[in-house]
Amino acid sequence: MKKYYVTTPIYYVNAAPHVGHAYTTIAADVLARHKRARAVPAHLLTGTDEHGLKIEEAAKAVGRHTIDFCDLTSAKFRDLWKHLDIRFDDYIRTTEKRHEDKVQELFALLIKSGDVYKGRYRGWYCVSDETFFTETEAAPDDKGRRLCPNAECRKPLQQVEEESWFFKLSKYQGPLLDHYAANPGFLAPAHRASEILRFVEGGLQDLSVSRQKVKWGIPVPGDESHTIYVWFDALINYWSATAGTSDLWPADVHIVGKEIYRFHAVIWPAMLMAAGLPLPKKIFAHGWWTVEGKKMSKSAGNFLDPYEITREYGVDAFRYFLMREMPFGNDGDFSKAALKKRYNAELANDLGNLVKRVVDMTDNFLGGRLPSKPEFKDDDHAASVAKRAGEIDAKMDALDFSGALDVIWEVVRGLNGRVNEKAPWKLAKTDMTECEKVLFDLIWSLRLVARWIEPFMPCKAAEMQTQLGVRLVLDPLTAEDVLNGVQQHPGEIRKSPPLFPRKE
Ligand code: MSP
Repeated sequence: MKKYYVTTPIYYVNAAPHVGHAYTTIAADVLARHKRARAVPAHLLTGTDEHGLKIEEAAKAVGRHTIDFCDLTSAKFRDLWKHLDIRFDDYIRTTEKRHEDKVQELFALLIKSGDVYKGRYRGWYCVSDETFFTETEAAPDDKGRRLCPNAECRKPLQQVEEESWFFKLSKYQGPLLDHYAANPGFLAPAHRASEILRFVEGGLQDLSVSRQKVKWGIPVPGDESHTIYVWFDALINYWSATAGTSDLWPADVHIVGKEIYRFHAVIWPAMLMAAGLPLPKKIFAHGWWTVEGKKMSKSAGNFLDPYEITREYGVDAFRYFLMREMPFGNDGDFSKAALKKRYNAELANDLGNLVKRVVDMTDNFLGGRLPSKPEFKDDDHAASVAKRAGEIDAKMDALDFSGALDVIWEVVRGLNGRVNEKAPWKLAKTDMTECEKVLFDLIWSLRLVARWIEPFMPCKAAEMQTQLGVRLVLDPLTAEDVLNGVQQHPGEIRKSPPLFPRKE
Protein backbone atom coordinates (compact mmCIF):
# COMPACT_ATOMS: atom_id res chain seq x y z
CA MET A 1 0.00 0.00 0.00
CA LYS A 2 1.31 3.44 -0.89
CA LYS A 3 2.30 5.48 2.13
CA TYR A 4 1.38 9.10 2.65
CA TYR A 5 4.74 10.67 1.86
CA VAL A 6 5.46 14.14 3.24
CA THR A 7 8.72 16.08 3.02
CA THR A 8 10.37 19.19 4.44
CA PRO A 9 13.03 21.18 2.60
CA ILE A 10 16.49 19.85 3.29
CA TYR A 11 18.21 22.54 5.30
CA TYR A 12 21.54 24.17 4.53
CA VAL A 13 24.23 23.20 6.99
CA ASN A 14 26.02 26.54 6.98
CA ALA A 15 24.38 27.57 10.26
CA ALA A 16 22.51 26.07 13.21
CA PRO A 17 18.75 25.50 13.05
CA HIS A 18 16.37 28.20 14.26
CA VAL A 19 12.65 28.73 14.74
CA GLY A 20 12.02 29.06 10.99
CA HIS A 21 13.40 25.59 10.28
CA ALA A 22 11.57 24.19 13.29
CA TYR A 23 8.31 25.59 11.97
CA THR A 24 8.34 23.70 8.68
CA THR A 25 9.50 20.49 10.28
CA ILE A 26 6.88 20.64 13.02
CA ALA A 27 4.16 21.29 10.44
CA ALA A 28 5.24 18.24 8.45
CA ASP A 29 5.30 16.17 11.63
CA VAL A 30 1.83 17.37 12.65
CA LEU A 31 0.49 16.34 9.27
CA ALA A 32 2.18 12.92 9.35
CA ARG A 33 0.97 12.26 12.89
CA HIS A 34 -2.55 13.23 11.92
CA LYS A 35 -2.48 10.70 9.08
CA ARG A 36 -1.09 7.96 11.32
CA ALA A 37 -3.77 8.62 13.92
CA ARG A 38 -6.29 7.94 11.17
CA ALA A 39 -4.59 4.66 10.32
CA VAL A 40 -2.97 6.02 7.15
CA PRO A 41 0.67 4.91 7.10
CA ALA A 42 2.74 8.06 6.74
CA HIS A 43 6.39 8.61 5.92
CA LEU A 44 8.16 11.80 6.87
CA LEU A 45 11.42 12.75 5.17
CA THR A 46 13.71 15.54 6.30
CA GLY A 47 17.45 16.09 6.01
CA THR A 48 20.26 18.45 5.10
CA ASP A 49 21.52 20.17 1.95
CA GLU A 50 25.31 20.03 2.08
CA HIS A 51 26.89 20.94 -1.26
CA GLY A 52 27.78 24.23 -2.90
CA LEU A 53 29.86 27.30 -2.41
CA LYS A 54 27.97 28.61 0.60
CA ILE A 55 28.74 25.52 2.68
CA GLU A 56 32.32 25.32 1.44
CA GLU A 57 32.91 28.93 2.47
CA ALA A 58 31.21 28.50 5.86
CA ALA A 59 33.46 25.52 6.65
CA LYS A 60 36.53 27.42 5.56
CA ALA A 61 35.59 30.35 7.77
CA VAL A 62 35.77 28.17 10.88
CA GLY A 63 38.82 26.24 9.68
CA ARG A 64 37.19 22.84 9.32
CA HIS A 65 37.23 20.23 6.62
CA THR A 66 34.02 20.67 4.67
CA ILE A 67 32.64 17.22 5.40
CA ASP A 68 33.45 17.45 9.12
CA PHE A 69 31.64 20.75 9.20
CA CYS A 70 28.64 19.18 7.43
CA ASP A 71 28.61 16.24 9.88
CA LEU A 72 28.54 18.62 12.79
CA THR A 73 25.74 20.88 11.61
CA SER A 74 23.67 18.08 10.14
CA ALA A 75 23.77 16.42 13.56
CA LYS A 76 22.51 19.64 15.14
CA PHE A 77 19.43 19.55 12.95
CA ARG A 78 18.83 15.89 13.66
CA ASP A 79 19.23 16.43 17.41
CA LEU A 80 16.82 19.33 17.37
CA TRP A 81 14.20 17.21 15.57
CA LYS A 82 14.52 14.56 18.27
CA HIS A 83 14.20 17.20 20.93
CA LEU A 84 11.07 18.58 19.27
CA ASP A 85 9.46 15.14 19.06
CA ILE A 86 9.59 15.02 15.27
CA ARG A 87 8.83 11.46 14.25
CA PHE A 88 10.81 11.39 11.00
CA ASP A 89 11.11 8.14 9.11
CA ASP A 90 14.17 9.03 7.09
CA TYR A 91 16.90 11.63 7.26
CA ILE A 92 18.73 12.30 4.04
CA ARG A 93 22.03 14.10 3.59
CA THR A 94 23.05 15.11 0.09
CA THR A 95 26.61 13.95 0.79
CA GLU A 96 25.40 10.37 1.19
CA LYS A 97 26.27 7.92 -1.56
CA ARG A 98 22.65 6.81 -1.95
CA HIS A 99 21.79 10.37 -2.95
CA GLU A 100 24.87 11.16 -5.06
CA ASP A 101 24.38 8.01 -7.13
CA LYS A 102 20.79 8.91 -7.95
CA VAL A 103 21.68 12.50 -8.84
CA GLN A 104 24.31 11.29 -11.28
CA GLU A 105 21.96 8.69 -12.69
CA LEU A 106 19.30 11.31 -13.39
CA PHE A 107 21.81 13.78 -14.79
CA ALA A 108 23.20 11.15 -17.15
CA LEU A 109 19.69 10.26 -18.25
CA LEU A 110 18.93 13.89 -19.09
CA ILE A 111 22.19 14.31 -20.99
CA LYS A 112 21.24 11.25 -23.00
CA SER A 113 17.73 12.51 -23.74
CA GLY A 114 19.08 15.93 -24.74
CA ASP A 115 17.26 17.83 -21.99
CA VAL A 116 20.63 18.64 -20.47
CA TYR A 117 23.13 20.11 -22.95
CA LYS A 118 26.44 21.92 -22.84
CA GLY A 119 26.76 25.66 -23.42
CA ARG A 120 28.36 28.73 -21.98
CA TYR A 121 26.93 30.65 -19.04
CA ARG A 122 27.30 34.38 -18.65
CA GLY A 123 25.48 35.94 -15.77
CA TRP A 124 25.38 36.59 -12.08
CA TYR A 125 25.27 34.35 -9.05
CA CYS A 126 24.22 34.86 -5.43
CA VAL A 127 26.15 32.51 -3.15
CA SER A 128 23.85 33.10 -0.19
CA ASP A 129 20.74 32.17 -2.18
CA GLU A 130 22.64 29.74 -4.44
CA THR A 131 20.74 31.31 -7.34
CA PHE A 132 21.61 32.45 -10.87
CA PHE A 133 20.42 35.84 -12.09
CA THR A 134 20.33 37.25 -15.61
CA GLU A 135 21.93 40.50 -16.67
CA THR A 136 18.56 42.27 -16.46
CA GLU A 137 17.68 40.79 -13.06
CA ALA A 138 21.10 41.80 -11.75
CA ALA A 139 21.00 45.35 -13.15
CA PRO A 140 23.22 47.73 -11.15
CA ASP A 141 21.55 49.94 -8.53
CA ASP A 142 22.02 53.73 -8.38
CA LYS A 143 25.42 53.25 -6.73
CA GLY A 144 26.50 50.88 -9.50
CA ARG A 145 26.36 47.80 -7.26
CA ARG A 146 25.06 44.45 -8.46
CA LEU A 147 23.06 43.12 -5.51
CA CYS A 148 20.93 40.01 -5.17
CA PRO A 149 17.45 41.00 -6.42
CA ASN A 150 15.86 39.02 -3.57
CA ALA A 151 14.74 41.75 -1.15
CA GLU A 152 15.46 39.47 1.81
CA CYS A 153 19.06 38.99 0.70
CA ARG A 154 20.59 41.99 -1.17
CA LYS A 155 24.13 40.55 -0.96
CA PRO A 156 26.71 41.40 -3.66
CA LEU A 157 26.49 39.12 -6.71
CA GLN A 158 29.39 37.27 -8.30
CA GLN A 159 29.91 37.47 -12.01
CA VAL A 160 30.10 34.07 -13.65
CA GLU A 161 31.33 33.30 -17.12
CA GLU A 162 32.16 29.69 -17.80
CA GLU A 163 31.26 26.58 -19.70
CA SER A 164 28.15 25.05 -18.22
CA TRP A 165 25.60 22.32 -18.65
CA PHE A 166 22.06 23.63 -19.13
CA PHE A 167 18.67 22.15 -18.39
CA LYS A 168 16.04 22.82 -21.08
CA LEU A 169 13.58 24.43 -18.71
CA SER A 170 12.07 26.51 -21.52
CA LYS A 171 10.74 23.35 -23.16
CA TYR A 172 8.52 22.69 -20.13
CA GLN A 173 6.62 25.97 -20.02
CA GLY A 174 3.62 24.48 -21.85
CA PRO A 175 3.60 21.13 -20.03
CA LEU A 176 3.87 22.91 -16.66
CA LEU A 177 0.97 25.24 -17.42
CA ASP A 178 -1.07 22.25 -18.59
CA HIS A 179 -0.25 20.39 -15.40
CA TYR A 180 -1.21 23.31 -13.16
CA ALA A 181 -4.49 23.68 -15.04
CA ALA A 182 -5.35 20.00 -14.89
CA ASN A 183 -4.43 19.64 -11.19
CA PRO A 184 -5.96 22.50 -9.23
CA GLY A 185 -4.66 21.29 -5.84
CA PHE A 186 -1.07 20.88 -7.06
CA LEU A 187 0.07 24.35 -6.04
CA ALA A 188 -1.15 25.68 -2.71
CA PRO A 189 -2.14 27.98 -1.17
CA ALA A 190 -4.02 29.72 -3.99
CA HIS A 191 -2.40 33.13 -3.68
CA ARG A 192 1.05 31.61 -4.09
CA ALA A 193 -0.14 29.45 -6.97
CA SER A 194 -1.14 32.53 -8.91
CA GLU A 195 2.34 34.05 -8.47
CA ILE A 196 3.84 30.92 -9.98
CA LEU A 197 1.35 30.90 -12.81
CA ARG A 198 2.22 34.48 -13.74
CA PHE A 199 5.90 33.66 -13.57
CA VAL A 200 5.66 30.64 -15.86
CA GLU A 201 3.33 32.42 -18.27
CA GLY A 202 6.03 35.08 -18.57
CA GLY A 203 8.31 32.51 -20.21
CA LEU A 204 11.08 30.27 -18.92
CA GLN A 205 14.77 30.34 -19.72
CA ASP A 206 17.05 27.33 -19.75
CA LEU A 207 18.83 26.89 -16.45
CA SER A 208 22.54 26.55 -15.84
CA VAL A 209 22.91 23.32 -13.86
CA SER A 210 26.63 22.87 -13.45
CA ARG A 211 29.59 24.89 -12.21
CA GLN A 212 33.23 24.58 -13.18
CA LYS A 213 34.63 26.67 -10.38
CA VAL A 214 32.72 25.06 -7.54
CA LYS A 215 34.51 22.00 -6.24
CA TRP A 216 32.22 21.01 -3.34
CA GLY A 217 29.51 19.23 -5.27
CA ILE A 218 28.57 16.10 -7.17
CA PRO A 219 30.64 15.68 -10.36
CA VAL A 220 28.79 15.71 -13.66
CA PRO A 221 28.91 12.10 -14.90
CA GLY A 222 31.40 11.87 -17.74
CA ASP A 223 32.55 15.47 -17.32
CA GLU A 224 34.26 15.64 -13.97
CA SER A 225 35.54 19.19 -14.41
CA HIS A 226 31.98 20.29 -13.57
CA THR A 227 29.96 19.86 -10.42
CA ILE A 228 26.18 19.75 -10.47
CA TYR A 229 24.37 22.95 -9.45
CA VAL A 230 23.43 22.63 -5.78
CA TRP A 231 19.70 23.19 -6.33
CA PHE A 232 19.53 20.59 -9.08
CA ASP A 233 21.27 18.20 -6.69
CA ALA A 234 19.17 19.15 -3.65
CA LEU A 235 15.71 18.84 -5.23
CA ILE A 236 16.43 15.26 -6.21
CA ASN A 237 16.62 14.28 -2.51
CA TYR A 238 12.86 13.78 -2.35
CA TRP A 239 13.15 11.09 -4.98
CA SER A 240 16.61 9.67 -4.22
CA ALA A 241 15.48 8.91 -0.67
CA THR A 242 12.82 6.59 -2.07
CA ALA A 243 15.31 4.44 -3.99
CA GLY A 244 14.64 0.77 -3.38
CA THR A 245 11.07 1.35 -2.19
CA SER A 246 7.85 0.99 -4.12
CA ASP A 247 5.44 2.53 -1.62
CA LEU A 248 6.60 6.15 -1.46
CA TRP A 249 7.00 7.96 -4.78
CA PRO A 250 5.28 10.21 -5.81
CA ALA A 251 5.32 12.37 -2.70
CA ASP A 252 1.92 13.42 -1.41
CA VAL A 253 3.11 16.81 -0.29
CA HIS A 254 6.30 18.85 -0.29
CA ILE A 255 6.08 21.50 2.42
CA VAL A 256 8.41 24.46 1.79
CA GLY A 257 8.84 28.10 2.72
CA LYS A 258 7.57 30.69 0.25
CA GLU A 259 11.07 31.90 -0.67
CA ILE A 260 11.94 28.58 -2.34
CA TYR A 261 8.58 28.02 -3.99
CA ARG A 262 9.79 28.64 -7.56
CA PHE A 263 12.41 25.94 -7.28
CA HIS A 264 9.77 23.50 -6.11
CA ALA A 265 6.81 24.58 -8.21
CA VAL A 266 8.62 25.17 -11.50
CA ILE A 267 12.09 23.62 -11.73
CA TRP A 268 11.43 20.42 -9.79
CA PRO A 269 8.27 19.38 -11.68
CA ALA A 270 10.04 20.16 -14.98
CA MET A 271 12.97 17.96 -13.94
CA LEU A 272 10.59 15.14 -13.12
CA MET A 273 8.77 15.55 -16.43
CA ALA A 274 12.09 15.40 -18.24
CA ALA A 275 12.98 12.22 -16.36
CA GLY A 276 9.58 10.67 -17.07
CA LEU A 277 8.82 10.37 -13.35
CA PRO A 278 5.43 11.00 -11.75
CA LEU A 279 4.94 14.43 -10.16
CA PRO A 280 4.25 15.02 -6.45
CA LYS A 281 0.58 15.56 -5.65
CA LYS A 282 0.93 18.85 -3.84
CA ILE A 283 3.52 21.53 -3.20
CA PHE A 284 2.58 23.79 -0.32
CA ALA A 285 4.39 27.07 0.43
CA HIS A 286 3.97 28.49 3.90
CA GLY A 287 4.80 32.02 5.02
CA TRP A 288 7.61 33.50 7.03
CA TRP A 289 8.09 34.34 10.67
CA THR A 290 9.53 37.59 11.85
CA VAL A 291 10.76 37.75 15.45
CA GLU A 292 9.48 40.55 17.68
CA GLY A 293 8.52 42.40 14.51
CA LYS A 294 11.92 42.01 12.82
CA LYS A 295 13.27 39.76 10.10
CA MET A 296 15.61 37.10 11.53
CA SER A 297 19.09 37.80 10.23
CA LYS A 298 22.75 37.48 11.01
CA SER A 299 23.17 41.24 11.16
CA ALA A 300 20.27 41.65 13.60
CA GLY A 301 21.59 38.64 15.57
CA ASN A 302 18.03 37.62 16.36
CA PHE A 303 17.91 34.00 15.23
CA LEU A 304 15.52 32.48 17.69
CA ASP A 305 16.86 29.32 19.29
CA PRO A 306 14.19 26.65 19.78
CA TYR A 307 16.08 25.22 22.78
CA GLU A 308 15.77 28.50 24.60
CA ILE A 309 12.00 28.67 24.17
CA THR A 310 11.34 25.04 24.94
CA ARG A 311 13.39 25.29 28.14
CA GLU A 312 10.90 27.82 29.35
CA TYR A 313 7.63 26.61 27.86
CA GLY A 314 8.21 22.96 27.02
CA VAL A 315 8.25 21.34 23.59
CA ASP A 316 4.50 20.92 23.22
CA ALA A 317 3.55 24.52 23.98
CA PHE A 318 6.15 25.62 21.42
CA ARG A 319 4.70 23.29 18.78
CA TYR A 320 1.21 24.46 19.64
CA PHE A 321 2.09 28.13 19.41
CA LEU A 322 3.75 27.79 16.01
CA MET A 323 0.77 25.96 14.56
CA ARG A 324 -1.80 28.22 16.18
CA GLU A 325 -0.41 31.72 15.88
CA MET A 326 -0.16 32.04 12.11
CA PRO A 327 -2.46 30.41 9.58
CA PHE A 328 -0.42 28.02 7.43
CA GLY A 329 0.40 29.91 4.25
CA ASN A 330 0.43 33.39 5.80
CA ASP A 331 3.25 35.38 7.37
CA GLY A 332 3.35 36.13 11.08
CA ASP A 333 5.35 37.35 14.03
CA PHE A 334 6.87 35.34 16.87
CA SER A 335 6.89 37.32 20.08
CA LYS A 336 7.47 36.19 23.63
CA ALA A 337 4.47 38.21 24.77
CA ALA A 338 2.17 36.44 22.29
CA LEU A 339 3.55 33.05 23.31
CA LYS A 340 2.98 33.73 26.99
CA LYS A 341 -0.50 35.05 26.34
CA ARG A 342 -1.58 32.02 24.37
CA TYR A 343 0.10 29.69 26.83
CA ASN A 344 -1.75 31.10 29.80
CA ALA A 345 -5.10 31.70 28.12
CA GLU A 346 -5.42 28.65 25.89
CA LEU A 347 -3.21 25.96 27.38
CA ALA A 348 -3.08 26.68 31.13
CA ASN A 349 -6.58 28.06 31.36
CA ASP A 350 -8.92 26.78 28.64
CA LEU A 351 -7.53 23.27 28.36
CA GLY A 352 -5.36 22.55 31.39
CA ASN A 353 -7.78 23.91 33.91
CA LEU A 354 -10.71 22.12 32.29
CA VAL A 355 -8.95 18.77 32.41
CA LYS A 356 -7.97 19.33 36.02
CA ARG A 357 -11.48 20.24 37.12
CA VAL A 358 -13.09 17.28 35.40
CA VAL A 359 -10.45 14.79 36.51
CA ASP A 360 -10.50 16.04 40.12
CA MET A 361 -14.29 15.81 40.28
CA THR A 362 -14.26 12.31 38.84
CA ASP A 363 -11.80 11.31 41.53
CA ASN A 364 -13.72 13.09 44.28
CA PHE A 365 -17.28 12.13 43.39
CA LEU A 366 -16.94 8.83 41.52
CA GLY A 367 -13.88 7.40 43.26
CA GLY A 368 -11.89 7.69 40.00
CA ARG A 369 -14.09 5.27 38.06
CA LEU A 370 -16.66 6.03 35.46
CA PRO A 371 -20.02 4.30 35.64
CA SER A 372 -20.63 1.87 32.79
CA LYS A 373 -22.12 3.54 29.80
CA PRO A 374 -25.22 5.55 30.55
CA GLU A 375 -27.63 5.61 27.59
CA PHE A 376 -26.45 8.24 25.12
CA LYS A 377 -29.13 10.38 23.65
CA ASP A 378 -28.90 12.59 20.60
CA ASP A 379 -28.62 15.70 22.69
CA ASP A 380 -25.76 14.32 24.76
CA HIS A 381 -22.81 16.62 24.66
CA ALA A 382 -20.23 13.94 23.87
CA ALA A 383 -22.25 12.95 20.81
CA SER A 384 -22.25 16.50 19.52
CA VAL A 385 -18.51 16.80 20.24
CA ALA A 386 -17.85 13.58 18.32
CA LYS A 387 -19.64 15.06 15.34
CA ARG A 388 -16.95 17.74 14.99
CA ALA A 389 -14.35 15.11 14.04
CA GLY A 390 -15.09 15.37 10.33
CA GLU A 391 -14.59 19.11 10.35
CA ILE A 392 -11.24 18.80 12.11
CA ASP A 393 -10.05 16.07 9.76
CA ALA A 394 -11.02 18.15 6.73
CA LYS A 395 -9.01 21.11 8.00
CA MET A 396 -6.02 18.92 8.81
CA ASP A 397 -6.16 17.28 5.38
CA ALA A 398 -6.10 20.77 3.86
CA LEU A 399 -3.03 21.69 5.99
CA ASP A 400 -5.17 24.31 7.74
CA PHE A 401 -3.59 23.62 11.12
CA SER A 402 -4.71 26.78 12.87
CA GLY A 403 -8.22 26.20 11.52
CA ALA A 404 -8.27 22.72 13.04
CA LEU A 405 -7.10 24.17 16.36
CA ASP A 406 -9.84 26.79 16.17
CA VAL A 407 -12.45 24.04 16.00
CA ILE A 408 -10.81 22.08 18.82
CA TRP A 409 -10.74 25.15 21.02
CA GLU A 410 -14.36 25.91 20.25
CA VAL A 411 -15.08 22.47 21.67
CA VAL A 412 -12.83 23.08 24.68
CA ARG A 413 -14.56 26.36 25.44
CA GLY A 414 -17.92 24.67 25.02
CA LEU A 415 -16.88 22.05 27.58
CA ASN A 416 -15.79 24.75 30.01
CA GLY A 417 -19.18 26.38 29.62
CA ARG A 418 -20.83 23.07 30.27
CA VAL A 419 -18.92 22.46 33.50
CA ASN A 420 -20.07 25.85 34.76
CA GLU A 421 -23.62 25.38 33.63
CA LYS A 422 -24.09 21.83 34.97
CA ALA A 423 -22.06 22.39 38.17
CA PRO A 424 -21.34 18.71 38.90
CA TRP A 425 -20.15 19.66 42.41
CA LYS A 426 -23.71 20.73 43.20
CA LEU A 427 -25.20 17.68 41.52
CA ALA A 428 -22.95 15.47 43.67
CA LYS A 429 -25.03 16.63 46.63
CA THR A 430 -28.47 16.50 45.02
CA ASP A 431 -28.61 14.10 42.09
CA MET A 432 -25.82 11.53 41.86
CA THR A 433 -27.19 9.86 38.72
CA GLU A 434 -27.14 13.15 36.86
CA CYS A 435 -23.68 13.93 38.27
CA GLU A 436 -22.35 10.61 36.93
CA LYS A 437 -23.88 11.26 33.58
CA VAL A 438 -22.45 14.76 33.26
CA LEU A 439 -18.95 13.62 34.25
CA PHE A 440 -19.15 10.61 31.96
CA ASP A 441 -20.03 12.94 29.14
CA LEU A 442 -17.21 15.36 29.94
CA ILE A 443 -14.58 12.66 30.28
CA TRP A 444 -15.60 11.13 26.99
CA SER A 445 -15.47 14.48 25.25
CA LEU A 446 -12.03 15.17 26.68
CA ARG A 447 -10.79 11.78 25.53
CA LEU A 448 -11.65 12.88 22.02
CA VAL A 449 -9.98 16.24 22.50
CA ALA A 450 -6.83 14.43 23.65
CA ARG A 451 -6.83 12.43 20.43
CA TRP A 452 -7.31 15.57 18.36
CA ILE A 453 -4.42 17.46 19.96
CA GLU A 454 -2.02 14.51 19.68
CA PRO A 455 -0.45 15.60 16.34
CA PHE A 456 0.26 19.03 17.80
CA MET A 457 1.24 18.11 21.35
CA PRO A 458 2.16 14.41 21.43
CA CYS A 459 3.52 14.40 24.99
CA LYS A 460 0.76 16.45 26.57
CA ALA A 461 -1.84 14.40 24.71
CA ALA A 462 -0.40 11.22 26.21
CA GLU A 463 -0.30 12.80 29.66
CA MET A 464 -3.87 13.94 29.27
CA GLN A 465 -4.96 10.49 28.17
CA THR A 466 -3.34 8.92 31.20
CA GLN A 467 -5.17 11.40 33.42
CA LEU A 468 -8.41 10.50 31.66
CA GLY A 469 -7.85 6.80 32.23
CA VAL A 470 -7.04 5.82 28.65
CA ARG A 471 -3.99 5.06 26.59
CA LEU A 472 -4.89 6.13 23.12
CA VAL A 473 -1.71 7.08 21.40
CA LEU A 474 -1.10 3.57 20.21
CA ASP A 475 -4.73 2.77 19.82
CA PRO A 476 -6.51 5.90 18.66
CA LEU A 477 -10.04 6.58 19.74
CA THR A 478 -12.40 7.52 16.96
CA ALA A 479 -15.54 9.59 17.05
CA GLU A 480 -17.49 6.38 16.40
CA ASP A 481 -15.94 4.80 19.49
CA VAL A 482 -17.24 7.66 21.53
CA LEU A 483 -20.71 7.39 20.08
CA ASN A 484 -20.67 3.68 20.87
CA GLY A 485 -19.24 4.28 24.34
CA VAL A 486 -16.31 1.98 23.66
CA GLN A 487 -14.10 1.84 26.76
CA GLN A 488 -10.47 1.34 25.86
CA HIS A 489 -8.05 0.24 28.53
CA PRO A 490 -10.19 1.83 31.21
CA GLY A 491 -7.98 2.98 34.04
CA GLU A 492 -8.49 5.00 37.16
CA ILE A 493 -9.00 8.71 36.91
CA ARG A 494 -7.05 10.27 39.74
CA LYS A 495 -6.19 13.82 40.71
CA SER A 496 -3.12 14.86 38.75
CA PRO A 497 -0.79 17.82 38.46
CA PRO A 498 -1.84 20.53 35.98
CA LEU A 499 -0.94 19.80 32.37
CA PHE A 500 0.23 23.38 31.78
CA PRO A 501 1.26 25.21 34.97
CA ARG A 502 0.54 28.94 34.63
CA LYS A 503 3.42 31.29 33.78
CA GLU A 504 3.54 34.41 35.89
N1 MSP B 1 18.60 24.06 1.21
C1 MSP B 1 17.50 24.84 0.76
C2 MSP B 1 16.29 23.97 0.53
C3 MSP B 1 16.48 22.85 -0.43
S1 MSP B 1 15.06 21.86 -0.57
C4 MSP B 1 15.37 20.85 -1.86
C5 MSP B 1 17.17 25.90 1.80
N2 MSP B 1 17.59 25.66 3.05
S2 MSP B 1 17.40 26.65 4.30
O1 MSP B 1 18.22 26.12 5.36
O2 MSP B 1 17.62 27.99 3.94
O3 MSP B 1 15.92 26.44 4.77
C6 MSP B 1 14.90 27.18 4.19
C7 MSP B 1 13.59 26.77 4.81
O4 MSP B 1 13.60 26.96 6.22
C8 MSP B 1 12.42 27.61 4.34
O5 MSP B 1 11.94 27.18 3.09
C9 MSP B 1 11.44 27.38 5.45
O6 MSP B 1 10.92 26.09 5.32
C10 MSP B 1 12.34 27.43 6.66
N3 MSP B 1 12.51 28.80 7.14
C11 MSP B 1 13.69 29.46 7.29
N4 MSP B 1 13.44 30.67 7.85
C12 MSP B 1 12.13 30.83 8.03
C13 MSP B 1 11.31 31.83 8.62
N5 MSP B 1 11.79 32.96 9.07
N6 MSP B 1 9.98 31.59 8.71
C14 MSP B 1 9.42 30.42 8.27
N7 MSP B 1 10.17 29.46 7.71
C15 MSP B 1 11.52 29.66 7.52
O7 MSP B 1 16.53 26.85 1.45
